[in-house]
Amino acid sequence: MNKKKFIIYGPNKLNGEIKISGSKNSSLPILFSCLLSKEEIKINNIPLLKDIYITIKIFKKLGVKVKQNKNSFIINAKYINNTNIIFNSINKIRASIWLLATIIIRCEKIKLKIPGGCNIGKRPIDLHIYALKCLGINIKFKNNFIIGKIKKLKNNIIQFKKISVGATITAILASVLIPGITIIKNCAQEPEIIETINFLNKIGSKIQIKNNNIYINGVKKLTSTIYTILSDRIETGTYLIASIICKSKITCYNINLYTIKNILKKILLTGAKLKIKKDYITIDMRNKNIKPVNIITNPYPGFPTDLQPQFTLLNALSIGKSYIKENIFKERFNHIYELNKMGTKIHIIKNIIICNGIKNIIGKKINSTDLRNAATLILAGCIAYGKTTINYVNYIYRGYENIIEKFKNLGVTIKIV
Ligand code: UD1
Repeated sequence: MNKKKFIIYGPNKLNGEIKISGSKNSSLPILFSCLLSKEEIKINNIPLLKDIYITIKIFKKLGVKVKQNKNSFIINAKYINNTNIIFNSINKIRASIWLLATIIIRCEKIKLKIPGGCNIGKRPIDLHIYALKCLGINIKFKNNFIIGKIKKLKNNIIQFKKISVGATITAILASVLIPGITIIKNCAQEPEIIETINFLNKIGSKIQIKNNNIYINGVKKLTSTIYTILSDRIETGTYLIASIICKSKITCYNINLYTIKNILKKILLTGAKLKIKKDYITIDMRNKNIKPVNIITNPYPGFPTDLQPQFTLLNALSIGKSYIKENIFKERFNHIYELNKMGTKIHIIKNIIICNGIKNIIGKKINSTDLRNAATLILAGCIAYGKTTINYVNYIYRGYENIIEKFKNLGVTIKIV
């Protein structure tokens, strides 16, 4: 267990500007997509995060060549010489599930340690397995391993019973190189899925979204490109919420407006004043009361579950009562127990979070348990009176590039011990 702690002295006023990093949830599927091409691919603007480094470590163990220059990575998966993927890094990241589709398609078989991921409730993989089986891939479970091999590849209609971001990516990755038309129904359409599709089309695949279905016309091979990852919508939302709860004015630049429209709609309801330009947003919450906002998390274009914890804190500091219904991860509530230690009045009934807004919270010793929970507790530390100590804070490095430096630049008194 990592013992790193963040200490924050508050309350803080934020001031200044920050550059939003590349999207984690686009970088990961795009990196895994590179395993399907035998040519060299350069990807720019990859955020330097723990999940990315683990991915690169896994790639190197497979025999994939990787060169890094700051946020740019050159991936060359001409040779993949290991299908026995049972080393420890696998169960550290959820994204390693995408090895199933990519390695089986490249090498016809795989033995994979069951992947891990963030601690936010049940993370089943049945939909991934269903998609692979639809395409003629045999999957068996033995102890802690998944054994997969090609039976006879075929196109199919993959009709998901539930919308899943990860399983939609698995279905895309497995079918781009199977000749003929594969259709994915009830698919996820998050901006990160669209970005992965755009990337795959740049390296030669033929994928279209029509009438909410994904149509994949399988090609013989994928090629090379230079691609720049779009900015992270969840990171953008997190800093905008930080500015609201600290009643401050900041500018986030390098944003991608298209990916944050549904987030901005909710941000506007808090009473924040926004100046929105093509690649930056200035948010001004100075001298304003925070209006509570009711939210239901749902697959895109619904509100993202990855901003539910941060919005819960915002509502807890607002001037009224509010409801958030968590429809994606129905146990994603660990932040609430920690926030209540700091004085918030948040209750949970089934998957509904009820916040009775209060004015101030007090710094305490609190524990982070996953990525977005860690971000929320840091935000709470920024506005809390006195000293906040956040234990097990290392989760934050899975999703927020240079978070300490960014908050320091905005004027927050924060240190790592
Ligand atoms: C991705 C994101 C994560 C985000 C989540 C929901 C990445 C790397 N991670 O995670 O940040 O919080 O989408 O937007 O992109 N489910 C099943 N069976 C499966 C797979 C999923 O029942 O085989 C369920 C999950 O338990 C959950 C729901 O489907 O209730 C959505 O999960 P999913 O969209 O798959 O999340 P991830 O792809 O893991």
